[in-house]
Amino acid sequence: MPSTPPDGDPVPADGSLPDQAYVGMADRGLSFYLHVPFCATRCGYCDFNTYTAGELGTAASPKSWLDAALTEIDLAAKVLRAGGDQRAVSTVFVGGGTPSLVGAGPLTALLDAIRDRFGLTVDAEVTTEANPESTDPGLLAALRDAGYTRLSLGLQSTSTKVLQILDRTHTAGRALDVVGWARSAGFEHVNLDLIYGTPGETDAEFGESLRAVVDSGVDHVSAYSLIVEPGTRLARQVRSGALPMPDDDVLADRYLLADAALTAAGFSWYEVSNWARDESARCRHNLAYWTGGDWWGIGPGAHSHVGGVRWWNVKHPAAYAAALSVGRTGRQPDGDVQDGLRSPGHAREVLDPDARRMEDVLLRLRLSDGIEIDALSPAGRQAARVAAADGLLQPDRFTRGRAVLTLRGRLLADGIALQLTD
Ligand SMILES: C[S@@+](CC[C@H](N)C(=O)[O-])C[C@H]1O[C@@H](n2cnc3c(N)ncnc32)[C@H](O)[C@@H]1O
Ligand code: SF4
Repeated sequence: MPSTPPDGDPVPADGSLPDQAYVGMADRGLSFYLHVPFCATRCGYCDFNTYTAGELGTAASPKSWLDAALTEIDLAAKVLRAGGDQRAVSTVFVGGGTPSLVGAGPLTALLDAIRDRFGLTVDAEVTTEANPESTDPGLLAALRDAGYTRLSLGLQSTSTKVLQILDRTHTAGRALDVVGWARSAGFEHVNLDLIYGTPGETDAEFGESLRAVVDSGVDHVSAYSLIVEPGTRLARQVRSGALPMPDDDVLADRYLLADAALTAAGFSWYEVSNWARDESARCRHNLAYWTGGDWWGIGPGAHSHVGGVRWWNVKHPAAYAAALSVGRTGRQPDGDVQDGLRSPGHAREVLDPDARRMEDVLLRLRLSDGIEIDALSPAGRQAARVAAADGLLQPDRFTRGRAVLTLRGRLLADGIALQLTD
């Protein structure tokens, strides 16, 4: 998910959308993202919108978050139905933070509310993220019963040393146990996240992590290069020289290692950082993000996108709960709210056709389906010809009218995408 831009246009108090958001809606899928803003401890590399109990104090709680999130689902139903939207929901993704920390009760209540207000398509994909240490067989059985179909677990590494540098509080063995419990509980799809390029990690250690992931029986793997996010403990350690970050060549070698190990084990890449055992194992929720689908993000700081209108919620759980408590209690302090529910939206932007085209190229070029060359501007097509001549785009696909990255192209994906959006 993109990080929150500081500014944008104001969101109407009732959350209503401009007419353009509803155009062509019936031809697009509808997804929900639910943000759980709690973690037991904060990993030193992470700048996600998440809080430990100590950081939150009494300002907000899992209870105030759940009440507010359920109210926002009501708001979403009101806003979307007002524009004639009749769609059932095809994907739900609960992310965080640490969804497993709040337990089965809230995760069931949220999914039930979506099912009740919108309906789920028969083949709906319902994912929750989980941390190994807050997940056990009982939780998994309850989530499966509630209708969750997919589990996404943060393993990051199997090296004890690397896990310690990343401040992870679980062992690798625990994460791999959770995969087995998820399969026993009947989860159709299980993902493991890996991080490569942690200071001090060796090729051999990353190779061992890849072997463990392949042997675990998961059908999906995400592998991300460690990003040093400003303001994190990791950033301070890197700045002070306490932790030296590997250079770009090392990161490129790790990516090549990941692709080779996963491909040899029968996985295929379908997005630069994502591999699946077969087409049915691809994460349809993330594909909706990358192909311009509609999604409503529930929760503090969550982002939404409907028909080229993008908005993001107030970031702090206390501000989020306060905004949504207005309609629920019938209070209307500023007189702006027509009939109750008030949007927790912080700001929004309405993308013009050029901005939508540019974003589409940036996201789709990272996919194994690539983009249609005819959809590029004349300058973008010229840049694509140069990239193809440089071996960065697949020649056979290029002659058939599509820009699809080669393995070497994937290492330079973002730079190439920028050239193609010229
Ligand atoms: C919300 S977390 C997944 C669920 C859970 N909170 C956890 O950490 O296991 C999403 C994933 O983002 C990745 N991630 C977070 N911060 C990152 C960073 N700075 N660099 C690279 N990957 C990062 C991690 O792989 C993590 O598993
Ligand atoms: S557990 Fe996940 S969301 Fe929480 S701080 Fe660590 S990486 Fe971030």
